[in-house]
Amino acid sequence: MLAVLAGCAAPRRAAPPPWSPPWLAAARAAYLDDPAARRAALVASLTNPRNTYSRHRLGEYARGDVGWDLLPVWNPRARALDRAVVDGLAAGQPLPTPTAPLWDGARPADDAAWIALGRRVFFEYPLRDDVGVAHLFAARGAAAIAARDATAEALGLERAVDGSYPGLVVFADVDGVTRLGITCALCHSARRGATLVVGTARRRFDLGALRLAYHRDTGAPIDPALAARMASWGPGRADVTEDDDEDPVAIPELWGLRERRYLTQAGTIRHGAPAALAIRQETQLLHAGGERVRPPRELAWALAMYLYSLTPPPPAPVGDPAERARGAALFDQHCRRCHRDPAGGGDALPAAQIGTDPALANGRARGTGRYRTPALLGLAASAPYLHDGSVASLAELLAPPPGRGHRFGAHLPPADRAALIAFLASR
Ligand code: HEC
Ligand code: HEC
Repeated sequence: MLAVLAGCAAPRRAAPPPWSPPWLAAARAAYLDDPAARRAALVASLTNPRNTYSRHRLGEYARGDVGWDLLPVWNPRARALDRAVVDGLAAGQPLPTPTAPLWDGARPADDAAWIALGRRVFFEYPLRDDVGVAHLFAARGAAAIAARDATAEALGLERAVDGSYPGLVVFADVDGVTRLGITCALCHSARRGATLVVGTARRRFDLGALRLAYHRDTGAPIDPALAARMASWGPGRADVTEDDDEDPVAIPELWGLRERRYLTQAGTIRHGAPAALAIRQETQLLHAGGERVRPPRELAWALAMYLYSLTPPPPAPVGDPAERARGAALFDQHCRRCHRDPAGGGDALPAAQIGTDPALANGRARGTGRYRTPALLGLAASAPYLHDGSVASLAELLAPPPGRGHRFGAHLPPADRAALIAFLASR
């Protein structure tokens, strides 16, 4: 008996707690330095191996002697489209070619330094060049520039108070040509008053209209069916999949990512470990750039660390404390079974069980048959709601037209729904 007890008490090395520096260091080392671990992390992260998103990655990623591992590593030279560049363009100067690479090539020394590097990737790593943006900034002469400024503002190409355009960069492209490009910040940051909120969806950005303006002004040909689809997206939505299905999706808020069990609205990616997000970002950068080069993995890891660090601005409380408390109790009773983690997110559930438009869930590109239960943070500032941005307010979300939409909460009396809204809007 004593011997058994002694055996139990023998010192065992406890696993470091999730998200602690040693835990992150081990996850980082596996992702950066162990191809077999990368391949295993990819396979574990794909919810539906049969959709085109998964098949493409299974065919190309972490294959060793074939596929994307053979691509040259690209450490881009880029700089913000800031006031100096914009003024230079207006004065007829060519785009200045940036000289310094984004990354100095040394692995950051601590978690804060990884996050700081990730911030630079978020704002400066060009996903790709953009003809619509290039066309706008080719304007010369006072009248054309005034028109450009109005168009840029109307399309959601926001200008920060320092005169820069967050999400737009000048960069030396892979072929050596200097171009205007877009970065993560274009869709995933937005101006509120004088501040730039990073991680919130740029709900005013109209990618479809930006493209159409280019085709209209230059006469460059476009398939009329595609033009009609682009016109139908509207601001804050884009069909980012590459199939012919009509399934535009709302730009999501990037809050509470650590806790999320699934990434993307259709839950395309199982988020069991940070490598799942790093691989998503590595393959997004690689694919968006035309699969000519791949980003240094250090930059993909840094970007993931930066995304995990993002938090919503604190909400202004709605209603009185007693009403919010009642709303919280109603939430536990009617909603928590799905919205079950602390951020309010949860599992990916069959689209038919939820009642919202199933097109994206069933799409060939990223479909899984499901929608993930989204985190409920910063809600007051993130209307419209649902994967397709189809619901304008929380009141409308809890009172959908019969037979359509998120079907939970609609049966509750109006006073209960008001209490739920006070609770939700204060999160
Ligand atoms: C043109 C706009 C656009 C750009 C640029 C863009 N995204 Fe997104 N992002 C989206 C949309 C739309 C979705 C929703 C996709 C889906 O759910 O299928 C999304 C989804 C995501 C998600 C999943 C979030 C969730 O809710 O699970 C992450 C993480 C993300 N983006 C990070 C990035 C990063 C990092 C970059 C830069 C490398 C980037 N995005 C560039 C539009 C964009
Ligand atoms: C059966 C599971 C389930 C239940 C129960 C449930 N939800 Fe949801 N909820 C979901 C899913 C899945 C989505 C995403 C659907 C989509 O985007 O098409 C969602 C979306 C939402 C959204 C939109 C968030 C956003 O950012 O767009 C809110 C708000 C919400 N639910 C609140 C509630 C409230 C309040 C209740 C209780 C009255 C509730 N939910 C009950 C599964 C559920």
